[in-house]
Amino acid sequence: MEDKIRLQKRIAASGICSRRKAELLITANKVKVNNVICNKLGTLVSPLDCVEVDGTILTNEEQVVFLFNKPLGVLSSVKDDRGRKVVTDFFKEYPYRLFPVGRLDYNTSGAILITNDGELANLIMHPSSHLEKTYVAIVNECFNQEMALKMEKGILLSDGMTAPCKVKIIRSGLESKVEISIHEGRNRQVRRMFEYFGLAVKSLTRTSIGFIKLNDLKRGAYRKLTNSEIEMLKNLCLINKKKNVIPTYKEKNFG
Ligand code: URA
Repeated sequence: MEDKIRLQKRIAASGICSRRKAELLITANKVKVNNVICNKLGTLVSPLDCVEVDGTILTNEEQVVFLFNKPLGVLSSVKDDRGRKVVTDFFKEYPYRLFPVGRLDYNTSGAILITNDGELANLIMHPSSHLEKTYVAIVNECFNQEMALKMEKGILLSDGMTAPCKVKIIRSGLESKVEISIHEGRNRQVRRMFEYFGLAVKSLTRTSIGFIKLNDLKRGAYRKLTNSEIEMLKNLCLINKKKNVIPTYKEKNFG
């Protein structure tokens, strides 16, 4: 009995769609349980029940989350038409339908979560979760305190103002080393934040996602998150959502 969960949660957890979309599919007669159409929201299903969504049978995989240290030159994707290496190539021993949670650029290394839990991925990626990600950037010229303060307050990029963030100069000089923590996830955001000051990022590494730190995890290596880390991550996102801190660019523009 404890193993039973609501049908819409079971569908969302498979990663094929959000819980809201799952509810729509259920009420639109697109979902079968044990080969019989089930259009009742909240129907409880167990791992032994066969759930079919729009012709696709869901598998009953164990739900896992890995912290992966993505090397440079690897795509945050599950496949690439041009034959480049993708993050899931490193997980071939696992019979799960894994995918990356969000993305890191091809030429950015570091922490990325890999999972088969679609609901958790949606929660983490949702802008209202305000999950802080920390990066270490090496930039080509001097990055000074004045720039750091301006960056912290928010700067105007082509797609709007950046939200307040934390910036720490580790080394300033001909080549500066800067730690930056942001909770937005716009395309090439950190690189563009330095470009604003006319600086080019020579190397970029994500060192943490929320409280999950890379520490000494080697490039190309991964570790499974513990159940308590996963629970804490979920709670952190839910608490931030409730607090509804400063609206992000996405929230302001797309509701
Ligand atoms: N910001 C970037 O510029 N690149 C990344 O990969 C992540 C954040």
